[in-house]
Amino acid sequence: MKFKLGEADVRGLKDRVIILTGGAGGIGRATAGRLAEEGAKVAILDLNGDGAATAAAEIGNGAIGIGLDIADQQAVIAAVDRVEAELGPVGGLVNNAGWDKMVPFLKSDAELWKRIVDVNLFGPVNVTHAVLTKMAERGEGRIVSVASDAGRVGSTGEAVYSYCKGGVIAFMKTLAREHARQGITCNSVCPGPTDTALLRDFDPEGKIVAALERAIPLRRVGQPEDYPGMIAFLLSDDAAFITGQVISVSGGLSMSG
Ligand SMILES: NC(=O)c1ccc[n+]([C@@H]2O[C@H](COP(=O)([O-])OP(=O)(O)OC[C@H]3O[C@@H](n4cnc5c(N)ncnc54)[C@H](O)[C@@H]3O)[C@@H](O)[C@H]2O)c1
Repeated sequence: MKFKLGEADVRGLKDRVIILTGGAGGIGRATAGRLAEEGAKVAILDLNGDGAATAAAEIGNGAIGIGLDIADQQAVIAAVDRVEAELGPVGGLVNNAGWDKMVPFLKSDAELWKRIVDVNLFGPVNVTHAVLTKMAERGEGRIVSVASDAGRVGSTGEAVYSYCKGGVIAFMKTLAREHARQGITCNSVCPGPTDTALLRDFDPEGKIVAALERAIPLRRVGQPEDYPGMIAFLLSDDAAFITGQVISVSGGLSMSG
């Protein structure tokens, strides 16, 4: 299903420099396009450097693509410096890059745990530390982390990933408290199951998706286009009084209090 995007409809994103991780595909690619439509200058940081460059060329509006692993702190610091030199002061961050492999916990091993934690837990910590250092000096900024409903309600076969996503949610809440006086907001968006490479790798035959479609109140899995509106809103001036919040975008699959 494709949504027809209308005119720019959130305030304050024009010319704002936004770093978005994992923008070469899936939810990140759809979000990068929407942010550029809203007039933002987007820097896409992705393990897939060619994909990041292609996405940046496609979305336009001065976007740049940088290839890196968010688990590599030195590479992240260098990339954030480069974004500020080329595009200007960073006003928004979307921690979107993530990765998992679905395996029952007792069948998983330390090598897999380490990679999942490096990407999903240390990745957002590395990028947030580098960006927030600059935002705090200037006293403004917006951070949105794409966590997961797995971090709110659990997800079978995703124990270590769920632990990381729960950590990201708590991380955002704590930074929301630490930086509220500077007007920096930090929120989490939790997708439910979504039709991207991540889900297709788990479920090549579509059996899990078929079961999920029966369980999800809105009767479908998410599409990448379901998320950019909420992310753009939380980055915008319209969301200036919203911080430390966790918002599920999951067709009603989870209705957390
Ligand atoms: N697809 C789902 O069902 C689902 C559900 C809940 C949450 N999420 C979360 O949504 C976010 C986006 O996922 P998606 O479904 O669009 O996945 P995707 O696999 O389609 O895209 C993820 C992007 O992140 C990049 N990436 C992965 N590891 C990276 C690293 N170490 N450094 C830099 N870039 C890296 C990939 O190259 C890719 O471009 C992730 O945080 C994911 O955990 C996805």
